[in-house]
Amino acid sequence: MLTYKEILDKYLNYFEKNGHAIIPSAPLVPENDPSVLFVNAGMFPLVPFLQGQKHSKGSRLVDGQRCLRTGDIEEVGDESHCTTFIMLGNWSLNDYFKKEAINYTIEFFVKELGLDINRIYASVFGGEEDIPKDTESIEIWKELFAKYGIKAEVGDRIQEYGKNKNWWGLASGGPCGPDSEIFYDTGKPKCGDHCHINCNCGKYIEIGNNVFMQYLNKDNKLQPLGRHNVDFGGGLERITALVQGVSNFYDTDIYKPILDKVKELSKEENITSQRIIADHIKAATWIVMDGVIPGRNQQGYILRI
Ligand code: ALA
Repeated sequence: MLTYKEILDKYLNYFEKNGHAIIPSAPLVPENDPSVLFVNAGMFPLVPFLQGQKHSKGSRLVDGQRCLRTGDIEEVGDESHCTTFIMLGNWSLNDYFKKEAINYTIEFFVKELGLDINRIYASVFGGEEDIPKDTESIEIWKELFAKYGIKAEVGDRIQEYGKNKNWWGLASGGPCGPDSEIFYDTGKPKCGDHCHINCNCGKYIEIGNNVFMQYLNKDNKLQPLGRHNVDFGGGLERITALVQGVSNFYDTDIYKPILDKVKELSKEENITSQRIIADHIKAATWIVMDGVIPGRNQQGYILRI
């Protein structure tokens, strides 16, 4: 069984083999942007480079970025929410575009990690307002599935959504664009006749997202960015759970050692509370690693509570 560290190394090595420079995870506390308290996406530290600034390591980058999101903190303790995670990320800074990006992602999942192509589904941007449907990605997906002997139809293996599902950018604006997400069939039953790959019932889980960043969101108005970037993100915790064959990431080797210790020390058995404690121990440790101390405001306040 692959450990989470081996999965991370495989990811970095696969993309390095394909011309990407490995860059270190940036600190969890943003260095130059006070719009959020913590880095919440792999691309966050790379915004200036997605906008055209030259990166010293070139135009193809890969990393595993430590991220923290408090938006879903009330859901932590169930099977699929946590506050901290490592986002696997690879970027094309005005280098390759949709075809290479989608093919790299699937080759990594299938050939390197051994995921089953028959259980992979894709979503694409279906067009909205004055932004056209992403027909190019549809053709790329069809061709890719065909290589594995799968006839992929739109509405089934490939599904279209609008901006609410298949468009990505930071809430504060900046580079953004249509995206194409990758879903994995968990084998659970469908929730009903209307079950679809992005319906959140738990049958399909999102394992990665390629954002095609060709636009700039400035004051809530879109304008062409003048560049064709790719921003891929995939949650290491979720991917590890699939590779390790467990139903939730608290049972992966990322959380299990912490959870086991919490269980050993617990006076009563309450799995939800035990998972919350395990999650918060990990989050607090990551925050402390960046030099934050408990306090009354900003990052210190999050650490204190
Ligand atoms: N930045 C993209 C995301 O977080 C990949 O989904």
